[in-house]
Amino acid sequence: MTAMRYIEPLYRPPSEARSLILQVTNGCSWNRCTFCEMYTQPQKKFRPKSHADIDRELAAVAASRMPVRRIFLADGDAMTLSTRRLTEIMDSINRHLPDVRRVSSYCLPRNLRNKSVDDLAHLQQLGLTLFYVGCESGDDLVLERVSKGESYDSSLAALRKIKSAGAKSSVMILNGLGGKRYSEPHARNSARLMNEAQPEYLSTLVVSFPLGTKRFLQGFDGEFEPLEPTELFIEMRWLLEELRLENTIFRSDHASNYLALKGTLGRDKESLLATVQAAIDRPGSVPLRQEWQRGL
Ligand SMILES: C[S@@+](CC[C@H](N)C(=O)[O-])C[C@H]1O[C@@H](n2cnc3c(N)ncnc32)[C@H](O)[C@@H]1O
Ligand code: SF4
Repeated sequence: MTAMRYIEPLYRPPSEARSLILQVTNGCSWNRCTFCEMYTQPQKKFRPKSHADIDRELAAVAASRMPVRRIFLADGDAMTLSTRRLTEIMDSINRHLPDVRRVSSYCLPRNLRNKSVDDLAHLQQLGLTLFYVGCESGDDLVLERVSKGESYDSSLAALRKIKSAGAKSSVMILNGLGGKRYSEPHARNSARLMNEAQPEYLSTLVVSFPLGTKRFLQGFDGEFEPLEPTELFIEMRWLLEELRLENTIFRSDHASNYLALKGTLGRDKESLLATVQAAIDRPGSVPLRQEWQRGL
């Protein structure tokens, strides 16, 4: 929409397709994960947007009378902003767009290191209630190999902080991230992390390399062998088998997945496992996305 001044490309979770995207920062302040090329173009160098510009955009949206119920704060780690800056942003949103019901953001675990539960609870009260956390794996070795800069413990600490503040988390885990060698520990440790954290939402994406694998392979010293579709399903079976979730909405239907799965865990665990097992045992019995239908 014309009121917004975006620096493209813009990324948002699939579930924010109908939200207003408010770009409060450009790029990602970490930008070192070797699988992620989303913010590597020169115009995406990390920079916060000034509050005056953000406020001006919100005023223009309000003047347009476009109905806005949900806002997604972009780009890759808007939660790197201080609690003071985020409070200013939430105050502007509430002043200009009082009908907004949910504000969400991507959130790296390290973005919360200097934020207390009280800080997050304050932001939650102002409407910032959902965080998309790219854990990617619960396996420390895999996390190290992809330069995520996070660990099982740092991810769990952040997810616990979010829960204690009364906000919700939506975790992303990357299917295939450890290649053949680390596939099983990657799946099982990711499940253990989710079991301890009990996030409200969990989604899995298949790691994909539209710009090539050169940067990614360096982290594995040449010992990365990508998973074939059947091996991705076996990894998914390990993950599902190990999961002990009480009430988590599970989605594995992002365009990067060959096999689309969705349900509520634990309730749907057995039926999801049966679908995955059928895809492993009887190729062709379960519809799969073709290579040309996949994307990021
Ligand atoms: C735009 S990023 C922002 C996430 C946020 N910075 C974080 O790390 O928590 C959103 C997610 O896209 C996914 N992603 C990034 N690169 C990917 C790739 N090459 N293949 C599949 N998924 C990818 C990761 O799960 C990542 O957490
Ligand atoms: S996955 Fe997240 S933290 Fe890593 S480079 Fe991409 S946007 Fe930044």
